[in-house]
Amino acid sequence: MIAPSILAADFTRLGEEATAVSGPRGVGADWLHVDVMDAHFVPNLTIGLPVVQALAAATDIPLDCHLMIDDPDRWAVGYAEAGAYNVTVHAEAAEDPVGVARDLRAAGAKAGLSIKPATPLAPYVEALRHFDTLLVMSVEPGFGGQSFIPEVLDKVRAARRLVDTGHLTLLIEIDGGINDDTIEQAAEAGVDCFVAGSAVYQAADPAEAITRLRALARRRSPGR
Ligand code: DX5
Ligand code: ZN
Repeated sequence: MIAPSILAADFTRLGEEATAVSGPRGVGADWLHVDVMDAHFVPNLTIGLPVVQALAAATDIPLDCHLMIDDPDRWAVGYAEAGAYNVTVHAEAAEDPVGVARDLRAAGAKAGLSIKPATPLAPYVEALRHFDTLLVMSVEPGFGGQSFIPEVLDKVRAARRLVDTGHLTLLIEIDGGINDDTIEQAAEAGVDCFVAGSAVYQAADPAEAITRLRALARRRSPGR
């Protein structure tokens, strides 16, 4: 799965930018990744609930909201109610991750848990039994256009083993620095869903960039 990040899109034309990556299943974006930042959890401020509501009305692509915010225990459920398909909170910010997952699912959304590059996976394995997605950050959250950190692939491999052996049932997603040069190693490590901001929206043809990324990933993960 490919999830273009609208953080790299033209914010004056968000509806059109969503349309630019939409297409039939297996051709266009599988999810549209929406980076919500609060200038507290990360040193950047992006968009919030009203824009997510507007996007949900403007596109049929399932919205994948990545909340880089403090106190997600309080705010996350609002994004589910706004129509997001998957809502991901940060393990480092959530007081009660399992409680957040329960609230998100009760509101009809999938629940995601994200870990920053330096955050280990092991302490969260039990909590992850209550989640639908694990978002492994491959850059420090806060900004698009950074370089991929390959060391996080050890966590992807560990998560892949847990899924393949039936200990966890979730999608493994990766976010940060994914492009033509990095997607294959991520696919080989076991990623199911690839977030790509600059690699899609800074391409001359975003739809073609998605097709190319998907083909590269498939080469390394034929079974998925
Ligand atoms: C970073 C965001 C990413 C970002 C990825 O904090 O979570 O989703 O948009 O952008 P690229 O693909 O350019 O690294
Ligand atoms: Zn993101």
